[in-house]
Amino acid sequence: MAMRRAAQQAIQALGSSVSQSRQLHATPGSKKIVGVFYKAGEYSEKNPNFVGCVERGLGIGDWLKSQGHQYIVTDDKEGPNCELEKHIPDMHVLITTPFHPAYVTAERIKKAKNLQLLLTAGIGSDHIDLKAAADAGLTVAEVTGSNVVSVAEDELMRILILVRNFVPGHQQVIRGEWDVAAISYRSYDLEGKTVGTIGAGRIGKLLLQRLKPFNCNLLYHDRLKMDAQLEQQIGAKFEEDLDAMLPKCDVIVINMPLTEKTKGLFNKERIAKCKKGVLIVNNARGAIMDTQAVADACASGHIAGYSGDVWNPQPAPKDHPWRYMPNQAMTPHTSGTTIDGQLRYAAGTKDMLDRYFKGEDFPPQNYIVKEGKLASQYQ
Ligand SMILES: NC(=O)c1ccc[n+]([C@@H]2O[C@H](COP(=O)([O-])OP(=O)(O)OC[C@H]3O[C@@H](n4cnc5c(N)ncnc54)[C@H](O)[C@@H]3O)[C@@H](O)[C@H]2O)c1
Repeated sequence: MAMRRAAQQAIQALGSSVSQSRQLHATPGSKKIVGVFYKAGEYSEKNPNFVGCVERGLGIGDWLKSQGHQYIVTDDKEGPNCELEKHIPDMHVLITTPFHPAYVTAERIKKAKNLQLLLTAGIGSDHIDLKAAADAGLTVAEVTGSNVVSVAEDELMRILILVRNFVPGHQQVIRGEWDVAAISYRSYDLEGKTVGTIGAGRIGKLLLQRLKPFNCNLLYHDRLKMDAQLEQQIGAKFEEDLDAMLPKCDVIVINMPLTEKTKGLFNKERIAKCKKGVLIVNNARGAIMDTQAVADACASGHIAGYSGDVWNPQPAPKDHPWRYMPNQAMTPHTSGTTIDGQLRYAAGTKDMLDRYFKGEDFPPQNYIVKEGKLASQYQ
């Protein structure tokens, strides 16, 4: 597939209808690389390691230019007149983060005649139409493992925030109030509660390990069962049937990718299977949930608390129901973009670009689409 696309591009390059900019940038050695990141504005100068923003562009601009490549960075990613749209016809590589994702639709892929490589600076490539990318012979890769600790730590924080009913207490303080009862009537200890993770891959396992000292009853559901030794070490019990696990859990954490199979998994019916008063943490992807079903269940109290940093779409529009539903502790998409996480996914992105320029393979676990095939959990 990659060969076919390269051959098509060579034929197109010979044609006389190519635009001026394509002639300039589609030479064999020099590549046009576009990076879509969130804007940092006044914050960009506050920390030299804050590399994940437009202003720093992962800190790879000088390196790319020294190698003769063109590097365009922008946060302007939506609509027909956005900056990204201008570069789609002649870019070779698109880098984007899940925090401010450039949505790569089949239509955009069709327009991107020079495109070869889509890199996710982070984890989760669901912002890309992966089937269209595979059909076009594109490679999609992410920096697997780069921010899994960042997310697992954040999930642990969110669990505690929900269990202790932290947010309303904090809001009281800001409003000049003091009402212990309004918080305490539904504030609990985590010890002794049943916590289930749906997805126990890299992040799910790290979360389970971190939860072990809290003396909870730990469960996990996944397509794959861990080997017995690891399961024992982590101290979590496998639940093959998701619907059988849900009513057992006081706290549910979502740790699976957004795929055709997991999209809308938590609809009205599935939420109804959860214990009344369940707490849900979702740092995986917003679209795994049915947006309105979550808002309704938070309003009715069936979900007693919902916290996460992922939304559908991103940035979340001003009228997104999760901004206004009760019992929520939502934030913008921040958990995987700590400074430590940024340094790791910036280094991983640079490493893959270097390998791409040299014609070398990437670490195998990084591939999401390779030679027309999707990674197994996306199939
Ligand atoms: N909020 C953030 O900043 C942030 C950062 C990193 C990752 N993430 C999200 O977290 C997800 C998980 O990351 P990870 O590094 O742990 O990935 P991973 O690939 O290591 O683990 C994913 C797990 O989900 C399981 N799974 C996949 N499809 C399933 C299905 N249909 N049913 C049951 N189990 C299924 C897999 O078997 C695997 O064990 C990512 O895909 C991404 O969407 C979010």
